[in-house]
Amino acid sequence: MTSFTCYNPVKLVFGKGMIAELKDLIPPDLTVMLTYGGGSIKKNGVYDQVRAALADRTVVEFGGIEPNPRYETCMRAAELAKSEGVGFLLAVGGGSVLDATKFIAIAALYDAGDPWEIMEGRAPIEAAMPLGAVLTLPATGSEMNTNAVISRESTGEKLSFGSPHVYPQFSILDPETTYSLPERQTQNGIVDTFAHVMEQYMCGIGRAPLTERMAEAVLITLVEEAPKVKANPDDYEVRANLMWCATVGLNGWLGCGVAAQDWATHMIGHELTALYGIDHGRTLAVIMPAVHRHQLERKLPRLVQCAERVWGITQGEDKDRAAQAIDRMEAFFQSVGVPTRLSAYNVDADEAAPLVAERLARRGVKIGEYGDLGEQAVREIVMLAR
Ligand code: NZQ
Ligand code: ZN
Repeated sequence: MTSFTCYNPVKLVFGKGMIAELKDLIPPDLTVMLTYGGGSIKKNGVYDQVRAALADRTVVEFGGIEPNPRYETCMRAAELAKSEGVGFLLAVGGGSVLDATKFIAIAALYDAGDPWEIMEGRAPIEAAMPLGAVLTLPATGSEMNTNAVISRESTGEKLSFGSPHVYPQFSILDPETTYSLPERQTQNGIVDTFAHVMEQYMCGIGRAPLTERMAEAVLITLVEEAPKVKANPDDYEVRANLMWCATVGLNGWLGCGVAAQDWATHMIGHELTALYGIDHGRTLAVIMPAVHRHQLERKLPRLVQCAERVWGITQGEDKDRAAQAIDRMEAFFQSVGVPTRLSAYNVDADEAAPLVAERLARRGVKIGEYGDLGEQAVREIVMLAR
């Protein structure tokens, strides 16, 4: 086990009816800016619950944050926050609204230049406005982590940043808010969660037995719950289990004591979203099996462990069991309803492979748990996903 620091100050408020708790979670004297997306919260009653909980507060609204939130939109929100004297940001929605709000929290206090410098890693993050969240889509773990992913329309980039300054002060998770999710978004959330766990767990380096078993517990729970949510989308217990899986999947715990993490799938996936507009979760279903096949030799011990503990494959040669574990993962994504090949998204791998590889190479990005997958490897991985 490697040495680690575990720090996560997010107050998680989980369960039916918990949005009402908002009144005690935000300091009463602050002007609140409520940020939201394209309007789903107005149809499913979440907006009404939030406004009722904040009935006696000064609230400014900023709606229209798009999936894969844009820098340009965030900058408009930051200007509004400044001009209205906002003191607290409340994100109500999915990962995109939460991520955008994290960026707005920084941009609203940043006067050293263009906040995009932060996304490019050229400027440090020194402060952020306090924020909280009401999550309506379990997937990203953004409700309990330091990360955000922002796209820039003018340059076609999709970049991420992380800072403890943007930990939400609290996140409210009411599983009932997820009943209204379109099936596609539920599917995306299951795959995204599964992939987050795998990025931390499926690595060739080091051992952290307790953390590995925690990761396996999340994977097994997802495999058990996915068919249930398909059959009964309004089952509270199933929705609650999926929501808790997503949070645990990327709140830092599964990285404790882990020597190195992979994240190659996410890095390639973000480029596919930027280039072709494919949903984040879907890019992962396409790329993760390809990464694992490409890196089978180096990930062999962990793949064999996963085969046995997650998929119950106990017979056969190691390489054969490892290959079966990858096949089972791909079949799982398909069973959730997410296609796992580029061709299903009308993307030509021959065209995509060099484009994705060049875009990552241009930024000097080397990926995988060894940090050595460069342009050639990325090309090969994308071709495996054709
Ligand atoms: O915009 P509205 O109208 O709210 O509709 C949204 C959106 O169209 C809808 N939706 C959300 N909750 C709903 C709902 N519709 C009905 N009922 C509800 N309860 O779902 C659509 C997708 O929402 P979005 O927030 O984009 O999805 P998700 O949560 O999957 O977030 C994806 C973004 O998060 C980033 C991705 O790259 C992508 O930009 N990620 C963020 C991470 C992080 N912060 O740690 C890590 C992830 O790996 C990921 O990269
Ligand atoms: Zn993800």
